[in-house]
Amino acid sequence: MSKVSIIGAGFVGSTIAHWALISGGCQVVLVDVVEGLARGKVLDLMQSGPIAGHSVDAIGTSDMAETANSDIVVVTAGVARKPGMSREDLVQVNAGIVGGVVEQIVKLSPNAILLMMTNPLDTMTYLALKKSGFPRARVIGQAGVLDSGRMRAFIALETGISPENIHTTVLGGHGDEMVPLVRYSNIAGVPLAYFLTDEQIAQIVARTRDAGAEIVRYLKTGSAYYAPGAAACRMAQAIIKNTHEIYPAAVYLQGEYGLRDICFGVPVILGKNGVERIIELDLNEAERAALMRSADSIRSTMAHLRY
Ligand code: 2OP
Repeated sequence: MSKVSIIGAGFVGSTIAHWALISGGCQVVLVDVVEGLARGKVLDLMQSGPIAGHSVDAIGTSDMAETANSDIVVVTAGVARKPGMSREDLVQVNAGIVGGVVEQIVKLSPNAILLMMTNPLDTMTYLALKKSGFPRARVIGQAGVLDSGRMRAFIALETGISPENIHTTVLGGHGDEMVPLVRYSNIAGVPLAYFLTDEQIAQIVARTRDAGAEIVRYLKTGSAYYAPGAAACRMAQAIIKNTHEIYPAAVYLQGEYGLRDICFGVPVILGKNGVERIIELDLNEAERAALMRSADSIRSTMAHLRY
């Protein structure tokens, strides 16, 4: 039985805990510094188990020691975006929170795989990699599963075709410069252009890039959590079950895509060791230029990072 600890019992953390219990195959530890918050949420989640038919194997606590010897630690701790705030505005405050959490994880679970959720995502993944000293296979940022899931949803809405048939690839940073790759997206193997006009595709690409901010504008006091939670759970399940599925994820690059010393969204194979392999797609000039713009925007966020 794998042990999956989730740090932060806000909307994202508790949604991941919910999905993890539904998916099964793991013991869940939900932690929050706010006394009683994780415990209360886990009691509620456990009590839904017999009714909804899912596992009750969960602990809610404010004590990080309970996470010892985790196989996966999902880090959601940090402050979410408020309206008008970019993910980058969060860098200073969240670096302090994430840095402290990672130091504790390293002591308690030295062999864990870190699954990073805190924004600005790519920069926080980089911080976790540097702070932990873990090999890059074990420090993974969730963004591409969310962003490509959003693009799948928009294509499904526009075409009326099942999202099951829709495959999308969204690479780069988890920010306004993310790169939805139309050429590597398809519907049951058929290019998007068969079903959609250029204008529809352009609108879907733009809405995918803006999808997180669109939700923030409606919620006003918080950001998305259902889809981010489902995305984290997908990745955790791929690791726990050693499925070798391919997902876009933020990983530390050492020359891939011509990039170095940056955490950046690229397609990876996920398995029991974390990132089993990075896949380098053959990109045309426009796609490569878009990826480089995204990398530049991450680097300008990283410039604000102190650790
Ligand atoms: C999102 O894209 C907040 O980054 C999160 O919804």
